[in-house]
Amino acid sequence: MSQVVRRPIVAANWKMHKVRAEAREFCRTVVGELGAPPAEVVVFPSFPLLDVVADGLAGMPVAIGGQDLHPEPSGPHTGDVAGMQLADAGCTWVLCGHSERRSEHGESDELVGRKALAAVASELTPLICLGEQLEERRAGRTFEVLGRQLEAALAGGPQRFELAYEPVWAIGTGETATPEVAQEAHAFLRAELGRRVGDEGAASTRILYGGSVKPGNAAALIAQRDVDGFLVGGAALDARSFLAIIGACGAS
Ligand code: PGA
Repeated sequence: MSQVVRRPIVAANWKMHKVRAEAREFCRTVVGELGAPPAEVVVFPSFPLLDVVADGLAGMPVAIGGQDLHPEPSGPHTGDVAGMQLADAGCTWVLCGHSERRSEHGESDELVGRKALAAVASELTPLICLGEQLEERRAGRTFEVLGRQLEAALAGGPQRFELAYEPVWAIGTGETATPEVAQEAHAFLRAELGRRVGDEGAASTRILYGGSVKPGNAAALIAQRDVDGFLVGGAALDARSFLAIIGACGAS
């Protein structure tokens, strides 16, 4: 596989946290302390905070994304958000298939694939999330699950996307995958990508790790050959801890 330099991505997934004043405070700290980051930086706030974050980080090297979108471009879908509405709010990214959407909202592999296509149609980059449950790992089915999720997510041939490997057992649990466990899954995903989009596409796709990433474990994870950044939940609610994780990507 050809050698390409993949610029890391460090993304904050705020989930259902923060109100406007807290979002403003986070932005103030980032504006004051980010400098020239060694990674692409993305923040995924809840929908009502998109405007606040877009204003608070205007002019900064930080992109904004939605945490979900509907697969249709518009229409009678109460409570849902369309890709073009996200783009209109200043988003250039959107999460697709986060495990909390899959488990709490019954999102199927097939739906995640449709969402990825809808994202690209609205000129958003989908960050497609994949990951096995604890029972699946224990049963030795990790690669089978990842292969199935990846195949469905890419079934429609989205023109652009990046991936996040988030083992469900590591999300919000404080139990991070070891660097070796993460590397093994990332290498598997890159090899699978090679079969689906070709070696060049596979070599340039960023595969982020997510699941209890903290300032203290980020450096060892990013040092792995196929770990290209992070999708961070809990540790990205605090601006300084998020900044420390971004900083860890510059040390490798
Ligand atoms: P966590 O969440 O960092 O709190 O484990 C990661 C995620 O769900 O994206």
